[in-house]
Amino acid sequence: MPRFRTVGTIPPSIAVTDGRPFPRCQVAFKPAMFVTHHNCRLELLQGDLTLQAVDAIANAANPQLAGGGGVDGAIHRAAGPGLIAETGRLYPDGCPTGSAVATSGCRLPARLVFHAVGPIWHGGNRGEPGLLAGAYRRCLELAVEHDCQSVAFPAISTGVYGYPKREAAQVALQTTLDFLREFHRPALVRFVLFDAGSLQIFGDVLSRLSPSTSPLR
Ligand code: APR
Repeated sequence: MPRFRTVGTIPPSIAVTDGRPFPRCQVAFKPAMFVTHHNCRLELLQGDLTLQAVDAIANAANPQLAGGGGVDGAIHRAAGPGLIAETGRLYPDGCPTGSAVATSGCRLPARLVFHAVGPIWHGGNRGEPGLLAGAYRRCLELAVEHDCQSVAFPAISTGVYGYPKREAAQVALQTTLDFLREFHRPALVRFVLFDAGSLQIFGDVLSRLSPSTSPLR
């Protein structure tokens, strides 16, 4: 008996805005897959994380919380200068690899940002899977602590930090499924993959973890 099942695919026309005036959000969704797991929903989408109108988004940050390129840069640009001011004020010592810290979302549609520090890939023998799992798990703990119904993730560590995408997807999805099985929260976990290749890989991995998952279209 599978522990979770696919219940459908997401239509491309679905709105992301929850009624708020974010016209850019109309381009954030594409067809993807979702599964239900212990009454929670796990979604895979291709899109831009900064457009997501969820309670919290996770950032792929560095240990200094100093901002950077990739999704980190995009989040700071969209949030405005208040975000770097807040991380500096609340977390002057930064955040260790394998963990995460919370700030407000400033000008983002999301209420909160969880600044997660994934590992740099060194070949896989320096504790990378455990550190990556720790970053995701801490974000999910923060979501529960901050009463978030919904949280959206990028593919942490798979850009500049060089973590192979398939291995990263395995860690990200397994950690999330384990957490949802244990805590039955948050109600929605959304993975927002920037490119079609990443979405395909995350979809393949989720299909393997869930025998009843339909293939991506
Ligand atoms: N929305 C969703 N995903 C995005 C976006 C976006 N707007 N922009 C980039 N991505 C994807 C990338 O395609 C990649 O798959 O996020 C994933 C993570 O890539 P990076 O942002 O490079 O993050 P990471 O590999 O964890 O490296 C972190 O990069 O920018 C610096 O300050 C950051 O030093 C830190 C390091």
